[in-house]
Amino acid sequence: MKIVCIGGGPAGLYFALLMKQLDPHHDITVVERNRPYDTFGWGVVFSDATMDHMRRWDAVTAEQIQQAFNHWDDIELRLKGRRIRSGGHGFVGIGRKKLLNILQARCEALGVALVFETEAESDLDYPDADLIIASDGINSRIRSRCAETFRPDIVTRPNRYLWLGTKRLYDAFTFDFQRSEHGWFQAHIYKFDATTSTFIVECPEHVWLAHGLDRADPAESIAFCERLFADNLQGERLMSNARHLRGSAWLNFQRVVCGQWWLKNTHGSHVVLMGDAVHTAHFAIGSGTKLALEDAIELTRQFKALGQTVVDMPAQIGAVLARYQAERSVETLRLQNAAWNAMEWFEVCGARYCDQLEPEQFMYSMLTRSQRISHENLRLRDAGWLEGYERWFARRAGVVVASGGHPVPPMFTPYTVKGLTLKNRVVVSPMAQYSAVDGVVGDYHLVHLGARALGGAALVMAEMTCVSPEARITPGCPGLWSDAQGEAWRRIVQWVHANSDAAIGVQIGHAGPKGSTNVPWQDAGADQPLPEGNWPLLAASAQPYLPGGQLPRAMTRADMDRVTQGFVAAAVRAAEAGFDWLELHCAHGYLLSSFISPLTNRRDDAYGGPLENRLRWPLEVFAALRAAWPADRPLSVRISAHDWVDGGLTPADAVEVARAFKAAGADLIDVSSGQVSPDQRPTYGRMYQTPFADRIRQEAGIATMAVGAISEADHVNAIIAAGRADLCAVGRPHLANPAWTLAEAARIGFTPINWPKQLVSGKGQMEALAQRAAHQAGGVK
Ligand SMILES: Cc1cc2nc3c(=O)[nH]c(=O)nc-3n(C[C@H](O)[C@H](O)[C@H](O)COP(=O)(O)OP(=O)(O)OC[C@H]3O[C@@H](n4cnc5c(N)ncnc54)[C@H](O)[C@@H]3O)c2cc1C
Ligand SMILES: Cc1cc2nc3c(=O)[nH]c(=O)nc-3n(C[C@H](O)[C@H](O)[C@H](O)COP(=O)(O)O)c2cc1C
Repeated sequence: MKIVCIGGGPAGLYFALLMKQLDPHHDITVVERNRPYDTFGWGVVFSDATMDHMRRWDAVTAEQIQQAFNHWDDIELRLKGRRIRSGGHGFVGIGRKKLLNILQARCEALGVALVFETEAESDLDYPDADLIIASDGINSRIRSRCAETFRPDIVTRPNRYLWLGTKRLYDAFTFDFQRSEHGWFQAHIYKFDATTSTFIVECPEHVWLAHGLDRADPAESIAFCERLFADNLQGERLMSNARHLRGSAWLNFQRVVCGQWWLKNTHGSHVVLMGDAVHTAHFAIGSGTKLALEDAIELTRQFKALGQTVVDMPAQIGAVLARYQAERSVETLRLQNAAWNAMEWFEVCGARYCDQLEPEQFMYSMLTRSQRISHENLRLRDAGWLEGYERWFARRAGVVVASGGHPVPPMFTPYTVKGLTLKNRVVVSPMAQYSAVDGVVGDYHLVHLGARALGGAALVMAEMTCVSPEARITPGCPGLWSDAQGEAWRRIVQWVHANSDAAIGVQIGHAGPKGSTNVPWQDAGADQPLPEGNWPLLAASAQPYLPGGQLPRAMTRADMDRVTQGFVAAAVRAAEAGFDWLELHCAHGYLLSSFISPLTNRRDDAYGGPLENRLRWPLEVFAALRAAWPADRPLSVRISAHDWVDGGLTPADAVEVARAFKAAGADLIDVSSGQVSPDQRPTYGRMYQTPFADRIRQEAGIATMAVGAISEADHVNAIIAAGRADLCAVGRPHLANPAWTLAEAARIGFTPINWPKQLVSGKGQMEALAQRAAHQAGGVK
């Protein structure tokens, strides 16, 4: 087969040598525009796992790379005069030049033709090639020429970075954060050979502009960075090796994803993208080279799987390339998603974390930035450091831990808000049960909420409870519009207080445009209008929730006054019933949410238009509740922080919403999302709403509750430890298991937890079984 690799970076060179090694009959040429041994960049890092993979495919190069590697385990943070270090992270670093030299030499030894100082204009320059590898990097000319087929999706990110080197040596992967008069800069630093370290400096665009770095030449930029990181550099210089354009100046990272990875050109040659030409991964997780090398391995593997002679191969190329794309596109997307979280963390850390978090917590947040490294995973890496952090966190939460005693995991630290101290960070999320009769809760609710109060969660939130008959979602929804309803609730609250150490709260709300619908298990199901017995609906605007659904009436000022009074009366009854916590439901497209979202609020009066207007009446309701609800009991607000629809409420808007409720006296924002429009396109995944809780907590400076796909103690620990939220609401897992918290405690081996006295005989057995299961799985603790 005649193969031409356009671009002699890691992808092109490694593929060339692997294919030549697979069968020396292949005629392989690598065309590179630079001179040999002339490249941009400093060191690259990859993981031990990549090395193992390479060893299986070409032991010779793997051995040489291994010899040249610098291996280190530690990550060090430098922030606000502090240095914090944790171990067990397992990186290897190598100079990019060294890596390329090894690959070039191996290519030559195997008989690959290397053609330097030659610019390939197009894949059409090589009409007799069977296979053309477009390994021409992030700005791939080949990809651009056939963009209609390859469908590249290129996103340019807002931060600026400069890729430098220094002779100062570091024995850990070092992250240094420095504040200038205009904002925060960070350096990502790692040693990659005996004499040199990579030193990447990064900052947000506005900080970069404020310093005039857009007008600075490379020498001036370097001088600026040397001043900024002078403490760290201790007199060493920063260097640029950027004779080549890339790395010569401040860059923006570009995330590349392609819809199609290969094609057959007009000469009948197959052309396939590889490495940065087809996907990029941000340096925050340092895996671009790894991806390039693994692309090369996978394509070689696919050819090898044919098990045929060179002569037969050309006929099979199309099928091989299709399999290559199918395999690699999934894997690279997974990595790109993780890289995306890590990249975003570095983009916002100046605004969100550097000033807000203490260095200990900042370190935890940074280590878990990709959301792929969990709490227990950190324990596997460096148990000593994690235990130290758990102790630090527990002390901050007021837990006295005897020295030598096991630290209390973040999930099980207490939390105080107003006059209420919760025993841990787990909340049973409010979940409608549709089982009230005329709004009156009964034995079902006593058993349901009672069981969950015994199950270990610190706070059990009763479902959305309605402020009038027309405020109900369904005929089965509970209410607080009558004294009889208040009395029925009081029975449950008293039972919980008498029989458990859980607190109990209630969420009050008004269904607005989403009212008058079936209970989920009846007739056409949830959200569908009742077949008969409907009641009139209210909303911000006369717009049905579902197309063709029941039309609500746009509220008048008189309606607002009346409904506000209903909320106040419900809050007074909730206080009289003895609830410890009150939550105002402003989420999920219900009445108050219908005012806040621009998708549902089309008003042109003082209650519509800009966010400030749309919030006016919800804030009025909130202020009335604050006045009516006892001052020493917590009052929270549940919001939808993202409508997941273009033109809808965004997470940035949600920060403003939170600020407004904070100013009105809210103690905490319970951060949910969506359900405002049937057109929503949420991105589900574990803890998928937690980034919104994190953002609100840091930017609006108010306590938050995270909710949504939080289903393991590991999730709760990571969220609380990183300061992404103060509490975690857990919904569906509590439907399946009322004692979810007790079970999770047993699973992570946390035994000093109180069980209800009547149930305590079950504790030892659950813990023993959990320990055995963990042992068998070879898992945590
Ligand atoms: C600041 C920064 C830090 C990074 N850190 C890391 C890290 O720590 N670890 C890691 O794994 N990755 C890192 N990367 C990414 C890494 O450099 C790339 O992902 C990797 O080099 C991709 O390899 P490649 O072969 O696909 O492309 P490249 O390495 O870009 O190689 C493409 C080659 O094609 C040549 N070329 C382009 N067009 C033509 C043409 N028309 N004709 C002839 N030749 C052409 C170029 O000269 C170049 O040599 C980092 C990147 C940046 C920007
Ligand atoms: C059956 C059911 C009923 C729900 N009812 C309410 C409710 O009354 N009020 C509310 O704010 N959210 C309600 N939710 C949303 C949950 O409180 C929670 O936010 C959601 O289920 C995501 O959390 P999870 O992934 O832990 O289940 C309900 C969810 C379910 C599954």
